[in-house]
Amino acid sequence: MKKISILCLLALLFAASCSTERKENRIDLNIPWKFMPGDDLSWAAPAFDDSKWKTILPDKIWEEQGYEKLDGYAWYRTRFFLPSSLKEKALMKDSLQILLGKIDDCDQVFLNGELIGQNTAVMAAKSPPDENFIKAQGVWNTDRRYVLHVNDQRIGWDKENVIAVRVYDQNGAGGMFSKPFAVSMVSFADYVKFDMTKNTFVFRNDNLLSRKFIIENRSGKDDFNGTLSLKVSSYSNGAVLFHKDTAINLSRNSKTETGFTFQPDPANPVFAEITFRENHTGQCVTEKMELPYILTPSVKKEPRINGAKVFGVRPWSPFLFKVAATGEPPLKYLAKDIPEGLTIDSVSGLITGALKKKGEHMVTLTVKNASGSATRKLKIVCGNTISLTPPLGWNSWNCWGLSVSDEKIRQSADAMRSSGLIDHGWTYINIDDGWEYKHDKDGKILTNSKFPNMYALCSYVHSLGLKIGIYSSPGTKTCGGYEGSYTFEEKDAEAYAAWGIDYLKYDWCSYGRLYPNPTKSQMKYPYQVMRKAIRKVNRDIHYSLCQYGMGDVWEWGAEVDGNSWRTTGDIEDTWRSLSGIGYSQRKCSSFSAPGRWNDPDMLVVGWVGWGPDLHYTRLTPGEQYTHITLWSLLSSPLLIGCDLSQLDPFTLSLLTNDEVLAVNQDPLGKQATLAKSNESYALWIKELEDGSRAIGLFNLTEQPLNIPVDLKELKLKGRWNMRDLWRQTDLGQVEQHFEMKVLPHGANLIRIVK
Ligand code: GAL
Repeated sequence: MKKISILCLLALLFAASCSTERKENRIDLNIPWKFMPGDDLSWAAPAFDDSKWKTILPDKIWEEQGYEKLDGYAWYRTRFFLPSSLKEKALMKDSLQILLGKIDDCDQVFLNGELIGQNTAVMAAKSPPDENFIKAQGVWNTDRRYVLHVNDQRIGWDKENVIAVRVYDQNGAGGMFSKPFAVSMVSFADYVKFDMTKNTFVFRNDNLLSRKFIIENRSGKDDFNGTLSLKVSSYSNGAVLFHKDTAINLSRNSKTETGFTFQPDPANPVFAEITFRENHTGQCVTEKMELPYILTPSVKKEPRINGAKVFGVRPWSPFLFKVAATGEPPLKYLAKDIPEGLTIDSVSGLITGALKKKGEHMVTLTVKNASGSATRKLKIVCGNTISLTPPLGWNSWNCWGLSVSDEKIRQSADAMRSSGLIDHGWTYINIDDGWEYKHDKDGKILTNSKFPNMYALCSYVHSLGLKIGIYSSPGTKTCGGYEGSYTFEEKDAEAYAAWGIDYLKYDWCSYGRLYPNPTKSQMKYPYQVMRKAIRKVNRDIHYSLCQYGMGDVWEWGAEVDGNSWRTTGDIEDTWRSLSGIGYSQRKCSSFSAPGRWNDPDMLVVGWVGWGPDLHYTRLTPGEQYTHITLWSLLSSPLLIGCDLSQLDPFTLSLLTNDEVLAVNQDPLGKQATLAKSNESYALWIKELEDGSRAIGLFNLTEQPLNIPVDLKELKLKGRWNMRDLWRQTDLGQVEQHFEMKVLPHGANLIRIVK
């Protein structure tokens, strides 16, 4: 009897276990390669003697390995022995693949002297490849995977093989990077893939969370029958809370949409493991997925005043400030001690008018409704500096890219209001690249057909109580190839003012062609020219420098009167990009001040995609908490990058936590500093105006982690009251030490106050 049940159990275990390709059944190419700048097709030949070439690692761009200024062609070469046991031991014996991470910008790959592939036709079409084509295709950012049938004559089985990679790059980062670099047989997992990006979680009215996803069979010749198993487990104790197996058939070249439904509990975050196990070979593909957990408490009926506590304006500039407040409508807005020249609209909460003289005014705001009233001070500073707190808004680039249009801007502005974001202090609706046409004979900038009437559009956005931003470049062309401002700066600034623009993002782009290796003063110059132009017009225009951090811009951005400056290249919705950018911001911590903000680029939560096709952010919920927590601590401009008309409850909860946003908007304007970091975690601490501190606890690992905080290490003495800002709950007193559990790649944000 006992024997039988053990046998049954073994059979069950066997049925459920997965056969996997042996890890050692691949040849690792993440090793030093040979490297030579320049271009010579004879370098493809296997017999070519590369022994005098320098070595380079393939997983880091060449700028990080001693070739800072290199643009144009360069070659990589490596040799490896290819035993036929590789195919004999493999579960699928058809094809060999060469994996070369990613390559910036584009490449051609030769195996034993023969071309085996190129990532697009760019390399072949023209020499040097066309810059706009490269940019438009985003070729640098695609995985390089070159597949050959095992009988392909170009492969040397049981011999030494030579791979030569011809790379072309211009501007910015160059060369091979990312991972993996390897030679292996194409396996089951290369054919069957989960695609999680076309759908997202739906929070249903019955409190259930449902999720659809796609399983793709990319094989052109095999159907796969198997079991799809879904397991949801608790992060806190690993307990399996839900398990379901379903038989499923994946026919060749097909995409199957399926999904699951689960009852979430925000107090107990969970992750799902989805496995497809193929019946015949027992091979599996698995996807681990964190389920979203909403921490932000829902908005109360009673009024609450949110947003900036200090607002800067220049004398005579048109004044527009929306008092942000939540609470059950209708709300009534009042302002006591409002300076002469300004008035508040009691229904919309808009303060408008103009101040004639420099000076500071402390206004008492009150917001009332049937459930109660809230009062808060607003300091108005009429002087030279604007943007005294980091701008909160939206920008079209991370979702719509160059497909932005008048209609999409109006939709976004409408959604900023209808979603309630405006009530939490979100203000700007910024048009990025893609609106420009050309300068006419009088030097007036014309809009393209997607923007029929810029003045009407700006007026519409203002009528909603929002502000509007625009984009240009000091070069002749913008990064998207549209008309830039070169030599038309004054005319352009006049046009912006006439339309009613409140924010200008000024992007280096093709200006780099004038000065490929600019000195610091050449870097500053175009920003000084446009600064002069926008200061001539009677409008407060937030001046956002975008030149990716060149020449340590944070050291001189204030000198050219920038209100914010990008400190990095473009962000993407991946952990690599987010953590790489976010955690490198200690370099500029001390340069942040009211009106002078470091900008680590826009937010990548929600539906993003760089237009026109969108996908749901590839960041896990924990990574998204890290994103908002860290950007708030960094006093970064918060510019939402997603489609506002498709905000799901989780994304909205990330963007409407007033206690978290208050850390970003703190009037002291200091940026958090890195207090402690090791391989597993990082602690960032930000000093706030009232003497309290915000502390971010960041888990850098892929497992839940208890993060210890020693107040002495943070140079803090005495007893403090602790508050969890995401959950908006008090945590009691702390004197020396506390510890908190933080989810994988996730963050907690606390505030301690004496
Ligand atoms: C990039 C910039 C992006 C976006 C884009 C438009 O250089 O970093 O944020 O503005 O140009 O073409």
